[in-house]
Amino acid sequence: MKNLVVYSSKTGNTKKLAEAIYDYLPGEKEIYPIEQAPDPNDYTFVAVGFRIENGKPDKAVEEYLKKFIDEKELFLFVTHASKPGSEEVKKAINEAKELAKRAKIVGVFECQGEVPEEILAEARKQDPVPEWVKDAEAAKGHPNEEDIERLIKLLNSLDLPL
Ligand SMILES: Cc1cc2nc3c(=O)[nH]c(=O)nc-3n(C[C@H](O)[C@H](O)[C@H](O)COP(=O)(O)O)c2cc1C
Repeated sequence: MKNLVVYSSKTGNTKKLAEAIYDYLPGEKEIYPIEQAPDPNDYTFVAVGFRIENGKPDKAVEEYLKKFIDEKELFLFVTHASKPGSEEVKKAINEAKELAKRAKIVGVFECQGEVPEEILAEARKQDPVPEWVKDAEAAKGHPNEEDIERLIKLLNSLDLPL
């Protein structure tokens, strides 16, 4: 029985959640950035994390999620600047689920993730300015300890195949 955590993270937010999941998992476990991630089908339980980029799951994770070829138990975790529970977030999560449609999704966690000032400055130059930029102020400091607590609570409440 082997557990795997894979994360796609540009500025470290999703990586924070990945490390908390890795610490939580019992037994034999591995953690990788997506660029080095192994075939998920060789593991019992897999957690895959990504950020929302331009309204969608980031490109690297799109490719990875397509690799799930059997009914693997999959936990998804997502960070984003948009308001938690917003339509954009729901849509991106649904897209990720659709990409991994062969997997059995056992849980999904989402929270905001702080956006570095230089990335915000670039985004503000777009016309129209993307909606998520307005929510970025509230994303400051996330993921924080409360987010991590919520994540662990969710993992605890799931009947994971660990
Ligand atoms: C190029 C770029 C595009 C982004 N687009 C969105 C977006 O469409 N919606 C959103 O909610 N957040 C967006 N964000 C914010 C990130 O999803 C958020 O900061 C996330 O926590 C980054 O995760 P990471 O630190 O693991 O890379 C974008 C960030 C970047 C760098």
